[in-house]
Amino acid sequence: CMVRHYKFNVVQKKTSRLCSSKPIVTVNGRYPGPTIYAREDDTVLIKVVNHVKYNVSIHWHGIRQLRTGWADGPAYITQCPIQPGQNYVYNFTVTGQRGTLWWHAHILWLRATVHGALVILPKLGVPYPFPAPQKEVVVILGEWWKSDVESVINQALKSGSAPNVSDAHTINGHPGPLSTCSSQGGFKLPVRPGKTYMLRIINAALNEELFFKIANHKLTVVEVDAVYTKPFKTDTVLIAPGQTTNVLLSTNHGTGKYLVAASPFMDNPTILVDNKTATATLHYMGTLESTRTTLTAPPPQNATLVATKFTNSLRSLNSVKFPARVPLKIDHSLLFTVGLGLHTCASCANGNRLVADINNVTFVMPKISLLQAHFFNISGVFTDDFPGNPLNPYNYTGPQPTNMQTMKGTRLYRLAYNSTVQLVLQDTGMIAPENHPVHLHGFNFFEVGRGLGNFNPKKDPKRFNLIDPVERNTIGVPSGGWTAIRFRADNPGVWFMHCHLEVHTTWGLKMAFVVDNGKGPNESVLPPPSDLPKC
Ligand code: C2O
Repeated sequence: CMVRHYKFNVVQKKTSRLCSSKPIVTVNGRYPGPTIYAREDDTVLIKVVNHVKYNVSIHWHGIRQLRTGWADGPAYITQCPIQPGQNYVYNFTVTGQRGTLWWHAHILWLRATVHGALVILPKLGVPYPFPAPQKEVVVILGEWWKSDVESVINQALKSGSAPNVSDAHTINGHPGPLSTCSSQGGFKLPVRPGKTYMLRIINAALNEELFFKIANHKLTVVEVDAVYTKPFKTDTVLIAPGQTTNVLLSTNHGTGKYLVAASPFMDNPTILVDNKTATATLHYMGTLESTRTTLTAPPPQNATLVATKFTNSLRSLNSVKFPARVPLKIDHSLLFTVGLGLHTCASCANGNRLVADINNVTFVMPKISLLQAHFFNISGVFTDDFPGNPLNPYNYTGPQPTNMQTMKGTRLYRLAYNSTVQLVLQDTGMIAPENHPVHLHGFNFFEVGRGLGNFNPKKDPKRFNLIDPVERNTIGVPSGGWTAIRFRADNPGVWFMHCHLEVHTTWGLKMAFVVDNGKGPNESVLPPPSDLPKC
């Protein structure tokens, strides 16, 4: 294995999309940012230099960071941010992982434009568990606002209401040929006939789950969140913010141009996000430019059945080489409600501001990082009394309770090293039922069950899949339903868990687990690097 060095200069860059331009924060002037390549077992060193006016931190989404939480990246959770003019070297080893992951800013809403792919190739000489593709292509789905993204969220926080929805979605940085301003043409994927391509699809959008589809071509899903799946064919891929999906694409139409489309899935009918389909072109080499593109109609915004069919098809590969190690004996059985709530606010339009919570706790960001507080035993930064179950059980998906006010706190849930966790994530009908793509740092987990309505602790566990459940790091909690995940707390440190819809994270739909050191020599958090930023 080797050591790979990267340098990320965080700089402003004037960028134009949708026929208007604005300065955006980028890595090395690029949007999306550069791809990081590594192999399983490699060590990666990324020197991040902050040349902008904002505090910055970068997260390597899905990298387990075994004992190296200092390199995980979420601001005020595992590190203080990198201040303007400062730098920090993220240093981690990729252990036991290969596949598509990604990196993104983990502070404010900077990840709108500060993100890129992180491709981990298998160890040299180790093949994929499917026929090797001729070519691999990174496909990053994103979201674009014409106005400054930081002012969009600041404005919303002031008023206590929801932020303006974005103006477009993007494929590899471009709204594409069917957008209201198509002068830039969009991303073009040139292909030769009769080959197999692997698309490494990443949803880097801030606030929307997306459908992904290519006209007249079926896709075979082979991996999600850098874990191999049982291959299955589909017309449409569903991908939530934070998730990654590898698909194989067979180019078995000898010629032509075909539309690639990414459009929002939102089964909350009160939020309309129409007219935001991002497009790109699959172009068979040799096809004349003037040829008409074969179009495709992505599923409508509320196509819950298409979404459910896709989600229910996902299974771990669970082969001899890649077994699914689902925890069977459970030490911590938890139920967390995830949803929205309210805080009284005198200056807000209707006397309340929108917030979000887990088990009725709206997370309050600390002033120094939780990992430092944990490692150096600094008191007064957090408490470890996060409720493992709802304090006031109610009919979660039923009519709204009259009191929708949530509590505030920087409360963590403590896990002994190597203990096992079953966590039911239950959406609530507070304000409105909504999908919540929940991401856990530091671990992969298995999704052993999901359903609609309220989780039933007597009946539902009997139907859990403990054989080949999908393994991932970000899971879509269904709107008005629940999902059950299991993981082993074999990574000491402080690990953030939050909704990957940026607006919900901002509103407080987040918490953290603190995992104690174990007794063995390799079971403790390593000491922090000397250049760890100061608050
Ligand atoms: Cu991809 Cu905590 O984030």
